[in-house]
Amino acid sequence: MNLPKAELHLHIEGTLEPELAFALAARNGIELPYADTEELRRAYLFDDLQSFLDLYYGLMAVLHTEADFEELADAYLARAAAQGVRHAEIFFDPQAHTARGVDIGTVIEGLGRALDRSEERHGVSTRLIMCFLRDESAESALAALDAAKPYLHRITGVGLDSAEVGHPPVKFREVYEAAAALGLRRVAHAGEEGPPAYITEALDILGVERIDHGLRCMEDPELVSRLVRERIPLTLCPLSNVRLRAVDILEEHPLGRMMAAGLMCTVNSDDPAYFGGYVGDTFHAVHEALGLGPEQLRELARNSFEASFLEDDEERRAR
Ligand code: HPA
Ligand code: ZN
Repeated sequence: MNLPKAELHLHIEGTLEPELAFALAARNGIELPYADTEELRRAYLFDDLQSFLDLYYGLMAVLHTEADFEELADAYLARAAAQGVRHAEIFFDPQAHTARGVDIGTVIEGLGRALDRSEERHGVSTRLIMCFLRDESAESALAALDAAKPYLHRITGVGLDSAEVGHPPVKFREVYEAAAALGLRRVAHAGEEGPPAYITEALDILGVERIDHGLRCMEDPELVSRLVRERIPLTLCPLSNVRLRAVDILEEHPLGRMMAAGLMCTVNSDDPAYFGGYVGDTFHAVHEALGLGPEQLRELARNSFEASFLEDDEERRAR
């Protein structure tokens, strides 16, 4: 599925393939608790978001130097380009690295080295979005935003990820206000495992322009009407929803119903190294499992550019 498209929901740490994890572990003298890449891949049997996050944050221990982050991002951009991605808005989790003693500058400059060469090397334009860990404190999020201040020229926006339930958007009101005052765009994960009310809060209290996931809006018809009326983009990740058990099987994913309801849907890969596919694979999978035809796939691709943070002229060039 090589339709030109933008990817708007992609955690760069979630593109760490087992082969690269072992290579970086060897380079940095780190012992992984898995015998080989096959054993690691076999560990990717998740019950829910938390069981995924435990493995995911553990494996990040291999990322240390600017070169590590550069290699990670460059590998993603090459794979994405091969699947038709022309523009990528890339999430990263600064707190997951600073908590391990890795400086935020190492993370941003390392990723930045790959992003700087991306258009020339891969034909992919990029934006960087720093996410706050919602299961950490609001003070910690404010400290992360403060630490990012020397690098704001590289950062387009802020997001909110990690364990959702019990950590409502309102907890981050102050840091989102501070981000807005710095001219940053705002998005947030909401309604993946958390209730529809978290989607409303993210819109009304955090002022987000897009909802990441948003799957559970379907439980609240009034919220669906609002999202349709206000044309709020949802960055859905169908393969992630299956692997993290938000839906049982892909054939039961509500994407087709959501599009039919008039919601502005995009499809994305979330954490492709863990969830079994990059975004082209995801387009292919929803075509096969949900019977989405060429016109619907084109709508998803069109939406991805429209919902991006590209300026109009850049958007036309990327399409
Ligand atoms: N949800 C929340 N946090 C995450 C995810 C996700 O799907 N992927 C990486 N961090
Ligand atoms: Zn995500």
